[in-house]
Amino acid sequence: MLFSMPGVWIKNFGCQTNVYDAERISALLRKEGYHTVTTPAAAQLIVLNTCHIREKATEKLFSDLGRLRALKTGPLPPKIFVTGCVAQALGKEIWQRAPWVDGIVGPQATHRLPDLLRASSQPVLCLEKTLPEKFQEPILSDSPTKVTALLVIQEGCDNGCTYCVVPSTRGRSFSRPVASVLEEARTLLQQGVREITLVGQNVNAYCAQDETGALCDFGSLLFLVAALPGIKRLRYTTSHPQDITDTLLRAHATLPSLMPAVHLPVQSGSDAILRAMKRPYTRTLYLEALEKLRAARSDIAFSSDFIVGFPGETEEDFQATLALVEEVSYAQAYAFKYSIRPGTPAASLPEQVPDPVKKQRLASLLALLETQQQAFYRQHLGQVVDVLFEKRGRHLGEITGRTPHFLPVVVQGSTDLIGSCCSVRLTKGLSHSLQGEIAESSL
Ligand code: 5AD
Ligand code: SF4
Repeated sequence: MLFSMPGVWIKNFGCQTNVYDAERISALLRKEGYHTVTTPAAAQLIVLNTCHIREKATEKLFSDLGRLRALKTGPLPPKIFVTGCVAQALGKEIWQRAPWVDGIVGPQATHRLPDLLRASSQPVLCLEKTLPEKFQEPILSDSPTKVTALLVIQEGCDNGCTYCVVPSTRGRSFSRPVASVLEEARTLLQQGVREITLVGQNVNAYCAQDETGALCDFGSLLFLVAALPGIKRLRYTTSHPQDITDTLLRAHATLPSLMPAVHLPVQSGSDAILRAMKRPYTRTLYLEALEKLRAARSDIAFSSDFIVGFPGETEEDFQATLALVEEVSYAQAYAFKYSIRPGTPAASLPEQVPDPVKKQRLASLLALLETQQQAFYRQHLGQVVDVLFEKRGRHLGEITGRTPHFLPVVVQGSTDLIGSCCSVRLTKGLSHSLQGEIAESSL
C-alpha cells in the first residue's frame, strides 16, 4: 500500500513561522495521499521551505538546489518546489539560477500546493497573498504522541525595521480571527498536545475580532487560550519591546500556565543604532519593558536577538550593546552579523561595516552570551522544577522535557510520563541541557 503512495521530502529553513508552515504543508500533502520520506532520493516531490532573512539563508537554498539537480537526470525525476520567503522575494529569478525547479510558491499561498501539483502544466509560479484561506483548516498532527505544538496567530509586520526583509516577504500584519485560533488550539489539545506556543512575526501586534465581533488584543487572546481544557503550558514568540500592554502584563501576573520565558529581541544597545534601525524604543525604554514584565512575574527569564555591524555601528555603539547584555543577563540569545538585504532601506546606507569587524564583534558578543547562558544553567543545579516530558531521549531508558524556562532536561524515566509534568531535581549540567532525577514526591 505504502509503495503506491508518492513520497514527499520537506526541508525547512528559518523561523518558527516557517516550521509551522512546513507542518501545514506536510499535513496538506498527507491528505493528498503523500507519505513523508527521509531522503530526497526516495521522493517523488521535494519541497524546500525557504528563509530570506540573511544572505546565508538564501544561499543555502541555491546550494541545496545544486545538489538536488542530479536527481532530475535520474530515471524517476522528482518534482522540486521552492516555497516560503525566498520564493516570495525572488519569484521568477529562482529559475535564472535553477531552471530545474518545478514550482515557486510564496509563504502565503502554500495552501494552494495540492491544486498547483495537480495542474497539468508546469513549472508554476504562485505568489498570491491569500492569508485567511491559508488558515482555513486546523492542522492535523501526524504524530499521536506530540506534546508541544506551534500555532501561528499572526503573520507579517508593519514595523518597517530598516534591515528587515519580512515586510516584503510576508507583507503587512495579518491576525487570524479568534475563532480560528481557538479551533486549532482545541484540535491540538484533543490530539494530546499539552503545550502551545503562539507564533507570529510580532505577536504583540495581534488584533482580531472575537466571536462577538469585539476586538481582541494579544493579552486577551492569551487569557482565552489559557482557559481551554487540557492546556498545561502556554508560550509565545516573537514579541516587540514597544507593545508590552497592561493586558499582557496581567496575563503574566495571573496565568500560571503562561511560562516565565520571554523572547524580546532588542537588536542593539545603542540608541543611535536603534534609531537608524527604526526600532521605536530606546535602551532605557527597553529596560523599562523588562522591568514591567519582571514586576508582573519575578521569575521571568529573557532571551533576545542581536545584530552586530549594522551600517554606521561604531566601536562605542557596540560597547553599548555589550553593556546592555551585562546589565540584563540573558538566559539565552541569538546574535547575527548584519546582512545586506536587497530592497531594504539599510542596504543603501553608506557606512557599511567591514566583514572582519563584524566577525570580531560577533565573536565577542557570542562569548559573553554563552557565559551568561552557562551561568543560567548553573543557577538551576540542585533545584526541583516542573518538567513537561516531550519525548524519548537519545539513550535507552531516557526521556526528555523542558523546564518552565525552556531548558532541556534529560532523566531516566518511563515513557508513560511523556505528556505529563513532573517535579525533577536538576543534578548535573551537560553542555546545552541539564540532567535530573524525578523527585520522589511526584512518582
Ligand atoms: N541581518 C542580520 N540579522 C537580521 N535579522 C533580521 N534581519 C537581519 C539582517 N538583515 C535578525 C534579527 C531578527 C532575527 C529573526 O533575525 O535579529 O530578530
Ligand atoms: Fe525567514 Fe523571516 Fe521568512 Fe521567517 S519570516 S522564514 S525568518 S524571512
